Amino acid sequence: MLLRVQDLTRRYPGQTRAVLQGAGFELDRGESVALTGESGSGKSTLLHMLAALDQPDAGQILLDGADISRLDDRSASAVRRRRIALVFQHFNLIPALTVAENIALHARLGKCHEAEWTNHLAERMGLADLMRRYPEQISGGQQQRVAIARALALRPDVLLADEPTGNLDEYASEEVLRLMLELVSEAGSALLLVTHSQQIAARCQRHLHLSGGQITEGACA
Ligand SMILES: Nc1ncnc2c1ncn2[C@@H]1O[C@H](COP(=O)(O)OP(=O)(O)O)[C@@H](O)[C@H]1O
Ligand SMILES: [Mg+2]
Repeated sequence: MLLRVQDLTRRYPGQTRAVLQGAGFELDRGESVALTGESGSGKSTLLHMLAALDQPDAGQILLDGADISRLDDRSASAVRRRRIALVFQHFNLIPALTVAENIALHARLGKCHEAEWTNHLAERMGLADLMRRYPEQISGGQQQRVAIARALALRPDVLLADEPTGNLDEYASEEVLRLMLELVSEAGSALLLVTHSQQIAARCQRHLHLSGGQITEGACA
């Protein structure tokens, strides 16, 4: 099992009810899984903990059997540079870097940059002609493709995508998700995709639902 999440609990200061109350699930290598749940149900909170950006009050997050839920900052950033990549709704590109530099950035930091793979990703994402441009000179859909290529350039064990197309129109969103699913599979990465769309959830192999602080395995639509 690639990722095993057990009994995860997280309560923010001042809240009466914990956001996560013993949430658990498992993710196999290369699996694509949709995560749904109402707004405020704790999906982003969960992803932040899986990316070691935040720590649970209780529970474990085992990546290949090793608990990553209570790492120090240095080890947590090492996990993000090598094993677990994140794509957010806001693309978080570096404005002063070109498209090419943005795509290679995390892989370079993680010392796992492979020029051939990175170029392949750029090509498949339709970015080959935009490599010298800056983020402000390309569309929102193109910016999100850069963010996804940057994440996959690491060949992460897990790609966490938090409503990655929430800022895009339906047409751009459809295209970006289709490419993301294809390239995640080429990269051999597992995918945990937060989405509101049942249609998109149906394209993933499994469907998890977060409600009342717990995760249930949904029927694959
Ligand atoms: N940093 C924080 N401090 C306090 N409360 C937070 C923080 N982040 C999220 N919350 C609260 O936790 C709940 C879950 O938020 P979130 O994980 O963002 O849900 P979702 O992504 O499913 O919409 C919400 O009630 C939200 O207001
Ligand atoms: Mg959220």
